[in-house]
Amino acid sequence: MPLNVAIVGIGNIGNTHAKVYAAHPDCKIVAICDAITDKAKEGADKYGAQAFSSIAEMLASGVKIDAASVCTAGMENGGDHYQPTIELLNAGIPVLGEKPISNEIPKAEQMVALAKEKNVRYGINLNHRFTPAAYLAKDWVKEGRLGDLNMIDLTMWINNPNESSPHFHMRALHPHSFDIMRYFADSEVSKVHAFFKKGKGRNTWTNVHVNLLYENGIIGHLRGSYEGNFGAAGTYGLETLDVVGSNGRFVLKDACEHLTFYPRFEKELEQQDYVGGMKHFSETFGSRINVWIDENLKSVDPTAISASGEDALKGQKVIEACIESWETGQVISL
Ligand SMILES: NC(=O)c1ccc[n+]([C@@H]2O[C@H](COP(=O)([O-])OP(=O)(O)OC[C@H]3O[C@@H](n4cnc5c(N)ncnc54)[C@H](O)[C@@H]3O)[C@@H](O)[C@H]2O)c1
Repeated sequence: MPLNVAIVGIGNIGNTHAKVYAAHPDCKIVAICDAITDKAKEGADKYGAQAFSSIAEMLASGVKIDAASVCTAGMENGGDHYQPTIELLNAGIPVLGEKPISNEIPKAEQMVALAKEKNVRYGINLNHRFTPAAYLAKDWVKEGRLGDLNMIDLTMWINNPNESSPHFHMRALHPHSFDIMRYFADSEVSKVHAFFKKGKGRNTWTNVHVNLLYENGIIGHLRGSYEGNFGAAGTYGLETLDVVGSNGRFVLKDACEHLTFYPRFEKELEQQDYVGGMKHFSETFGSRINVWIDENLKSVDPTAISASGEDALKGQKVIEACIESWETGQVISL
């Protein structure tokens, strides 16, 4: 039996999700739902599905849906996720939501609580760390190749002219950053301190430095910007992750492209390029969504799914703590 999938919100990213489902041998896209009727119809024609302009209409139609991707956007790129997600979870349908889960913490908490109450799978598309290179680096950490971890440093930047709210940069981009850092720290953030700077000609906080203390003692640092992406040839692109331990260090460039292990006490480096054949960040959508598909096909327990709503909520709390730190000039404890 194929996994019958609905896509809610068929914009740029909804289409990205749809292409992954369409290419999967065990998935069938059965419904495309968009508040803009013409977009829903166009998407439905493209993917051979039924078109709906609301969740209520889709649920009332009786079409059998095993899982849904919620690819709406809204305020700070997450404001429209709440309502459709609540309606789907209430109907017992597993949801893969786009990031940010919500920049309104009480709403994020409600969605996570509802998924728990209904015992329904609820994941978030925190795709950056679903790469063969990140898995290999994580194996190195687990095997003890780096020794005891001391520091995690991440740079994530793109060019984005959006000025729609003062903290759009922090709230729209860095759900990914705190998720990647949490994955490698294997611990929760206990303290946060952040400084922001508006870039030249910008009216919003487009640059940030954050210091983090994790519960297990690891210290972290995030450098973020919406005026980044230096080196048109990709020499210093989207993201650079640098994880330092007592015996060695790794640097992972651009999520999947170049992974280098630097031993502390020997001379020879280990360089791995395009691990598993993954060459570009854009491929992380496929790798992440395929994990979600597998977990649904295997009926994985909702408490055991990868990059869950609960995981995403933890990242959102760090984001809000960064903003509070900047506004109060204090170190914020979580
Ligand atoms: N994971 C990533 O790397 C990544 C990258 C870029 C964007 N995103 C996220 O993807 C999401 C979508 O971004 P986009 O650029 O495709 O947005 P978009 O504005 O192009 O598309 C959103 C669509 O949702 C529809 N919509 C809104 N409310 C709806 C509702 N209640 N029911 C049905 N349809 C509704 C809109 O009509 C629109 O067609 C955002 O949350 C964004 O943060 C994620």
